[in-house]
Amino acid sequence: MNPSDTDLLDLTGRVAVVTGAASGQGKAAALRLHRAGASVAALDLDAEGLASLGNGIMTLTVDTSDPAAVEEAFDEIRRSLGPAYILAAAAAVWAGWNSILDLDYRDLERIFRINTFGTLYCVKNAARHMTEAGRGGRIVMWSSIAAARGQPHDIPYTGSKAALEGMARAISGELAPREITVNVIAPGAIDTPMLGDADLSFYDTVLPGRRVGVPEEVAEMVAWLCSPRSRFVTGAVIPIDGGVAAVNGPWMLSRTIRSADPALVDALKADIYPADRE
Ligand SMILES: NC(=O)c1ccc[n+]([C@@H]2O[C@H](COP(=O)([O-])OP(=O)(O)OC[C@H]3O[C@@H](n4cnc5c(N)ncnc54)[C@H](O)[C@@H]3O)[C@@H](O)[C@H]2O)c1
Repeated sequence: MNPSDTDLLDLTGRVAVVTGAASGQGKAAALRLHRAGASVAALDLDAEGLASLGNGIMTLTVDTSDPAAVEEAFDEIRRSLGPAYILAAAAAVWAGWNSILDLDYRDLERIFRINTFGTLYCVKNAARHMTEAGRGGRIVMWSSIAAARGQPHDIPYTGSKAALEGMARAISGELAPREITVNVIAPGAIDTPMLGDADLSFYDTVLPGRRVGVPEEVAEMVAWLCSPRSRFVTGAVIPIDGGVAAVNGPWMLSRTIRSADPALVDALKADIYPADRE
């Protein structure tokens, strides 16, 4: 007999709060945790996207960068489902490519407010639920491989994710005695609306595995990190990237360029080294 997903990761009786749940990886995580038996509350700005989650998942249209709205949402979740045992915080925006010379201060603040502060507001409220309930808990935050690798022209986004990684380590130490784990996942390129209208065949050539990931592959790691099986894993930053973080980027690029056709070489230069073309 093949054990089902639910047999492997049974989250029955656990309340899971998932942010950024209207789309992409947050949506896949919400559906995966629901399939594992958790009572899921899905938060996002996008009400229409939340509606696509279907029956059985509580949805709340919330701007996670608004601290009062986040607190109110957690209070409502506690009243309806009970205290959060799981937080999977995926809500974020990408800023687009820009030189440090063109840094837009309002944009910098917006990116940090949504990606870093908004995630922390959710972590604070989830930690409050978990501490008061006294049954432990699981917190997973979304960073990006950009935080560790440094992507030229991707400054506010990279910084907003790197800040999260440092804070997650600090929080993990404080919450470890309460059996609350705090981990960060760092996806590589994942096929979601965040990639915009990028030509995926470009990624298929450059990446070690010759393909981008899909949200469901990320959701499997999230489900495991939210389960009792991961109880001794905390303060970790875990890449989910098909090997990108492990492989030497320039080596990969030079190998690609050697084997590529001229049009692809132009596309690579334009996408990776836009300043060189100016
Ligand atoms: N797609 C990738 O290649 C990639 C790579 C590395 C990291 N990530 C990270 O993965 C996470 C999930 O992104 P995704 O790829 O699923 O993208 P996505 O754009 O499909 O999903 C992001 C979701 O966050 C929501 N959101 C944005 N701002 C919000 C706010 N203020 N309040 C509430 N919800 C808000 C959006 O409405 C959207 O539903 C993000 O943290 C992102 O930074 C994505």
